[in-house]
Amino acid sequence: MGARVKTYEIAVVHGDGIGPEVCQAAIDVLKATSVSNSLKFVEYPAGANHYLKAGTAFPDETFEGCKRSDAILHGAAGLPGVTYPDGTETGIEFGLQLRFRLDLYANVRPIKLRPGVTSRLRDRKPGDIDYVILRENTEGLYAARGNGVNLRDEVAVDSLVVTRKGIERICRTAFELARKRNGAPGDGKKRVTVCDKANVLRTYAFFRRVFNEVAEQNPDIEADYAYADAMTVYLLERPEYYDVIVMENMFGDIMSDLAAATVGSMGMSPSSELGDSHGFFQAAHGSAPTIAGQNIANPYGTILSAASMLQWLGERHADERLLSAANQMENGVDAAMATSNGLTRDLGGTATTTDVTRMVIDRLSSTARHAAE
Ligand code: IPM
Ligand code: MN
Repeated sequence: MGARVKTYEIAVVHGDGIGPEVCQAAIDVLKATSVSNSLKFVEYPAGANHYLKAGTAFPDETFEGCKRSDAILHGAAGLPGVTYPDGTETGIEFGLQLRFRLDLYANVRPIKLRPGVTSRLRDRKPGDIDYVILRENTEGLYAARGNGVNLRDEVAVDSLVVTRKGIERICRTAFELARKRNGAPGDGKKRVTVCDKANVLRTYAFFRRVFNEVAEQNPDIEADYAYADAMTVYLLERPEYYDVIVMENMFGDIMSDLAAATVGSMGMSPSSELGDSHGFFQAAHGSAPTIAGQNIANPYGTILSAASMLQWLGERHADERLLSAANQMENGVDAAMATSNGLTRDLGGTATTTDVTRMVIDRLSSTARHAAE
């Protein structure tokens, strides 16, 4: 009796701007991996262009499709001019609502200096910067979205909300993640840093208190502290000190862009948004409408997010094949980046989106051939 090979259904939302280009790149690479036959891609609409066409940025069928799927892959969405009457953007509805409606509380953003990339930070080589920003993804200041007050166009209020449950689960995730990693590149120590403003605001003081409770239950891992303003300096001065950094939603949003700039560009910013039962994968960059349709967008972030998707699915379903395909993809990316023409414009190179896709695919097959030899 042969074992049935599971097929994983991937809900795909291309989005706006460069979204469709980088998303297609990731799909093309996934389709070239050793598990292509186990993946079924189902496309759903969402975003600003869909809002213009259909009057909604996030149709119910798209939500139901995402909820039913084994994982969700997204390009990027949003167009600056396409807003609601309150001035907020329509296109980002999809990604933001999905976080709350599927309870994707852990936003994992690896910050890694990869081969071939020259960091803007002097003297940093690949390997020197390798940490994870763990962004709380379901509360904090973002919990106010759509719930804030605008009174007579004279007063506007958004509130920052944190809960014990929310802080506990993100801090636990941080320590679990650190346990699986190899420690900070600088000293090899497994370390979780909480980044907050506990000196000023009660919400952050509470965040830090709950962090300390979780840290006490994880004595094998160093607990470390930084105020968010100081952190913007530390991430430039001593990135090698960091391993896992956990923070509130809004700080995580800001800090992950700053961090991406130290490892090349926003194009190098993969991201996984994970809950207990769903996973959502997209790069942390936006839809970059000014460079859309020119085949120059950097697809590495989305391809790496797709590799994390295979990794997450593989762990969840104890499916070794997916774990090895995830590996194959990440190695393919590193090999492509290390070649002389492997960098896109944002990284100082001339490779196009489709050049990169082709290069990664070619290097996947050589990895697979070597593995089979
Ligand atoms: C991110 C993005 C989103 C955010 C936008 C697109 C709503 O910047 O994932 O970091 O603000 O969280
Ligand atoms: Mn952001």
